Amino acid sequence: MKSKSDISVFEKYAHEYDLMTNARQREKNHDQEVAAIVKRYKPTSVLDAGCATGLTSSLFARRGIETVGLDRSQRMLTEARKKYKFTGYPLKFQFGHFERLSKSLNGKFDLVVSLANSISGVHTLKELFGAFSNFHRVLKPGGSLVIQVLNYKGWKENELMPIRATDNDGLVYIRFSERTGRQFHIYAIRLDNREEEPKFEVFRHDFDNFSATEIVRLLKEVGFRKIEKFGNLKFTEKFGQASRDVVLTATKKAESF
Ligand SMILES: C[S@@+](CC[C@H](N)C(=O)[O-])C[C@H]1O[C@@H](n2cnc3c(N)ncnc32)[C@H](O)[C@@H]1O
Repeated sequence: MKSKSDISVFEKYAHEYDLMTNARQREKNHDQEVAAIVKRYKPTSVLDAGCATGLTSSLFARRGIETVGLDRSQRMLTEARKKYKFTGYPLKFQFGHFERLSKSLNGKFDLVVSLANSISGVHTLKELFGAFSNFHRVLKPGGSLVIQVLNYKGWKENELMPIRATDNDGLVYIRFSERTGRQFHIYAIRLDNREEEPKFEVFRHDFDNFSATEIVRLLKEVGFRKIEKFGNLKFTEKFGQASRDVVLTATKKAESF
């Protein structure tokens, strides 16, 4: 998906990403989601594609699972490395694009996860095909992929959908989204109220939108099997009309399939 902005709010304020997304408050629930993923797939190695500041990666790694957090944002990786440097977890952070994954990762992982709309950073269907081919290539035979697309329900035409508002002692972030045709827009307002004179910035990112049907078609084309859709990351609800998010799971053919 293409962003028209030169630099996204995430990229510019990577050092505030955890505040913007309420990472500390999200951690408990996200840990339960990671527990559900681990229970379902029992991975010994995980690639967290689009790791940002590393929360998801750290939750796998602290369970003793060899984890690589991958991101195309050096600023995010700097934050992630800073946070988890002294944990002793089996955790590495690596620069890379989904569309051009290093051959050194071939066949290395039991599980690839790409959560919280990370795949929306891919520009076109052709590039999404490339990204899925690469996820397929870095998986071991029989390995699985989990993709999470948030606010899927909000992809209704011309409807403004609140994403999240956070206030950290006067540093306020408000994000909401809208869909018009194939275009998906994310609006972000950053208000810094900590100084005498409040300062604010507005960001808008416009993307091409991928439907769940297109995602499933591309997953099949690159060779994934057993494609399923869920309404949440704990796999307790099948995807349906009422689901706010969509979680897609797919498996690479085992050698003896
Ligand atoms: C919305 S954040 C999600 C972060 C994290 N997965 C989470 O659950 O909080 C998306 C991250 O994916 C990264 N990203 C987006 N598109 C990418 C691509 N094509 N290749 C590598 N990283 C990408 C961004 O730099 C950003 O850090």
